[in-house]
Amino acid sequence: MAVATQRVSALPRPSFKPIIEHTLKKPVQDAVKFDPKKHLAYTPPTQVTMMKDIGYAEDTGISPMAVSQPFQLFSPEAIQQMRAEIFKPEVMENCSFSSNIAARQLRGYASKYAPFTYDAWHHPETLAIMSEIAGVDLIPQFDYEIGNINLSVKTDEQTKEELDAINKQKTYFAEDEGIAGCPWEDDKPIVGWHEDSYPFVCVLMLSDCTNMVGGETALRTANGEIMKVRGPQEGCGVILQGRYITHQALRALGAKERITSVTSFRPRSAFKKDDTVLTTVRPISDLSELYYEFAEYRCEIMEERLRKERKDMMARRRARKKFDTVGHKRFLEESAAFLEHSNREMVEDSKVTSGYIDKIDIPDVVVGATEDARPAKRARVE
Ligand SMILES: [Fe+2]
Repeated sequence: MAVATQRVSALPRPSFKPIIEHTLKKPVQDAVKFDPKKHLAYTPPTQVTMMKDIGYAEDTGISPMAVSQPFQLFSPEAIQQMRAEIFKPEVMENCSFSSNIAARQLRGYASKYAPFTYDAWHHPETLAIMSEIAGVDLIPQFDYEIGNINLSVKTDEQTKEELDAINKQKTYFAEDEGIAGCPWEDDKPIVGWHEDSYPFVCVLMLSDCTNMVGGETALRTANGEIMKVRGPQEGCGVILQGRYITHQALRALGAKERITSVTSFRPRSAFKKDDTVLTTVRPISDLSELYYEFAEYRCEIMEERLRKERKDMMARRRARKKFDTVGHKRFLEESAAFLEHSNREMVEDSKVTSGYIDKIDIPDVVVGATEDARPAKRARVE
């Protein structure tokens, strides 16, 4: 039976106590304001992979870029403040969601409870960095998607077991030069193959990754090869045009906690295409918040496009030109398709199943698979 989406505060809650204590060595300082001079620590990515590099046409997405290598984005002080904001009790209480693909997420908290995080992602200097790497002028998708948090916390025993297993396998594979790559990188992924709902995402690491192994993003190239992009270190980000590239996040092992923050972006211009869907987020959202923000910006785009169409029409008239019947009919058709798309994405609340997200039917990258059982050849990017 379909149930309305609801928050999951009633679900059993893993213990966050150890990391809360760790995090709050410095208490939450609501007075800390985001200051790009202090809090941005940007170093450009060493490499940006383009759509055409992985076999796609340049106009597949919104810009020609596909994915960046990890790059330093925020200073340690900024990361400390972002962590403090997500561990506020009201965030844990009011913004927790859980689904079949992620045990614990915090969503939609930034505009209400996290002024530092909110300002960090809205700041023109941050947006200039995102836009430069993405190759198109970007703004946050909407406030609900600022700093979506994925939390994974393990016990000391679990962490130690993983580290022991990794160290054993390291020795084993170091002795056999015939086997390329690391065995644990093929461990079951956290999220299966999918495309994102939003055009661009920036994944930011909020944990210390010193002992972490894995955590890459695997991409499927146009001819079905797998390309892996290294996961970011603490304070670092990766930008991916995730709406247009099938990808999955591989499991990270050996870290007691792994907290990533995912912020989604769309083009600033109302005249770029907007293929945004809500497929992967509907079941893990407060639908009233999500639909309001989706509907509002889609209306704004329509408003801007209508205004321009009318201006152009009037300008032709003033210039004593004939009415552009073909052009205006094309505009009406595109507008009808745009509005239908908005309507289709807003599935009635009662028909949304909370906590369940469909996966794409492509086999996951599997742990311990033999060569021929693995997906075809791999392109590797380090
Ligand atoms: Fe994704």
